[in-house]
Amino acid sequence: MTIPAVTLNNGVQMPQIGLGTWPLKDHDAAPVMVTAIEAGYRHIDTAFRYGNQRGVGQGVRDSGIAREELFITSKLDGEFQGENRAIAGLDACLQQLQMDYVDLLLIHWPLPQRNDYVSTWKTFETLVASGKVRSIGVSNFTPAHLDHLLAETTICPATNQIQLSPRITRPDQVAYGRAHGIVTVSWSPLGQGSDLLSDPTLQAIAQKYGKTTAQVVLRWNIELGLVPIPKSSNPVRLVQNLDIFDFALTSAEIAAITALDTGAEKRVDSDVDGH
Ligand code: A2P
Repeated sequence: MTIPAVTLNNGVQMPQIGLGTWPLKDHDAAPVMVTAIEAGYRHIDTAFRYGNQRGVGQGVRDSGIAREELFITSKLDGEFQGENRAIAGLDACLQQLQMDYVDLLLIHWPLPQRNDYVSTWKTFETLVASGKVRSIGVSNFTPAHLDHLLAETTICPATNQIQLSPRITRPDQVAYGRAHGIVTVSWSPLGQGSDLLSDPTLQAIAQKYGKTTAQVVLRWNIELGLVPIPKSSNPVRLVQNLDIFDFALTSAEIAAITALDTGAEKRVDSDVDGH
């Protein structure tokens, strides 16, 4: 199976679907990585905060795949934000992963009350030359945070990873990314196992194509140029979530799925939420 790639604004290629690893921990991540890589995943998303990087790295080694075949994302926040702190943060990630580099390093949360995402980003910019990170990006940033960042720094983030599903479509953030060449990555694209997947609109579309509602939601991400990173530890669902490249949604179906955003579902607010 060939997974299409998106090209980041620095020319690096990123597989258009990845494996989310939260809330896996070190003790259970490794076998999931082996199963996922066998199923065809080549893009894995982790973070220092998840407490699973040792398990993720172990699983990658257990799979026997060559490191350069994979696209690995990690994220830094908390103690690793602020001037120069990301240097030690990246080293800590690499030490846990037992890898020489990550493909993408993100600021996990803007934490605007700390007022240090600009200084963190300036340190991220210096890390690119170290060879320990191929691309740098952000997560959970609003257009206002990005405006501030772009005005004060040199490198445009390659990605903004945000919570995005048919119930939380975040049109402003997606449009901002398109306008600035920032790829939008969707975390919790399946709604974290909520009742999203039994929505009647999704069920009708799924039935038409002989797919599951999860596959329809992931395909909707692909049609919109987004990069979903669904999490699963279940071998059947891991395979199912990759099997989305043999059908296409109509523009009416894409619009109907986008219209499921009622604004009713609780959203993570990066301005106030520091986790
Ligand atoms: P599991 O790991 O048992 O498969 P999200 O990525 O939106 O946060 O969603 C992750 C949740 O959705 C997990 O609870 C995961 O459970 C479940 N999940 C993942 N893939 C599917 C699928 N294809 N169908 C139904 N549930 C899924």
